[in-house]
Amino acid sequence: MFEKTLLKGKAGIITGSSSGIGLFIAQYLSEHGADVTLCGRSEEKLEAAAKTFDREVLTSSGDVRQEKDVQNTVQAHMERFDRLDFLINNAAGNFLCPLEQLSENGFRSVVDIILTGTFHFSQAALPHMKSLGGACILNTGTTYAFSHGTLVGHSGAAKAAVLNLTKTMAVEWAHYGIRCNMITPGPVKDTEGVKRLIAHESMKKHMHDIMPIPRMAEGWEVGALAAFLLSPLASYINGAVIPIDGGLHLVNPGLLPPLALKFMTQATAPE
Ligand code: COA
Repeated sequence: MFEKTLLKGKAGIITGSSSGIGLFIAQYLSEHGADVTLCGRSEEKLEAAAKTFDREVLTSSGDVRQEKDVQNTVQAHMERFDRLDFLINNAAGNFLCPLEQLSENGFRSVVDIILTGTFHFSQAALPHMKSLGGACILNTGTTYAFSHGTLVGHSGAAKAAVLNLTKTMAVEWAHYGIRCNMITPGPVKDTEGVKRLIAHESMKKHMHDIMPIPRMAEGWEVGALAAFLLSPLASYINGAVIPIDGGLHLVNPGLLPPLALKFMTQATAPE
């Protein structure tokens, strides 16, 4: 386990952190000394999330799709902590829907949250990170961005684009001392993602049966990976894309197996 002082003196913003993976990461970073700003659309959810921390955290509500909201959050963070060592672009939107049935607005909503949101926040953070000479951007992706995302074509396409953006930022901003990396979790226990995407019992069982490590990730395991990548221990890791899924993507390259469409039909009938 890391020393509790691993990230002492560092401060950063985690988007989409009122629940799920974002909150797990924020909690882990805070437990290891970092000051964090939690962001999400719902003030109520943010307040509830903030209560789960042992130390004070800042909350800032807004929509990553709105440039003004993003600027406001970065400004609030700077006013409170006066430094921006890391940004974790984690906010996402997702739901199961075959491409054939996906509306233009449904596609746009998900792509805007994931891709445009990452662009907005990274650009807004840059001026404050440049002078630090050791800042980090960490994007949360998904393993299905590597190949295809059955029933999640919208988010698969957006996350694949973020993967590319991560590498471009890694190259373009390295001379500012900024490292940009991406983590790509598979299913993580107690998250909105699992609730939304692996909703059906038979789908859950199938996933469990094919997983090389037959369980979902614990939240702290994702938090520990993020903490490592933000820490000086990872000072030469830049432009990396690191899966954390127990090897699931090797045996199951898309989010869902080809049987997903069948599961989807079954999912309409409660078990
Ligand atoms: N199936 C098909 N289309 C759907 C859908 C579903 N389950 N859920 C939403 N949509 C469509 C809506 O119908 C709408 O399109 P339309 O105007 O053509 O009808 C469009 O998506 C936008 O929905 P809306 O709810 O108005 O957008 P929003 O900006 O409030 O919400 C979402 C964004 C859709 C991504 C919503 O699911 C969300 O807020 N997600 C946040 C949490 C999350 O997804 N976390 C990711 C965990 S992996």
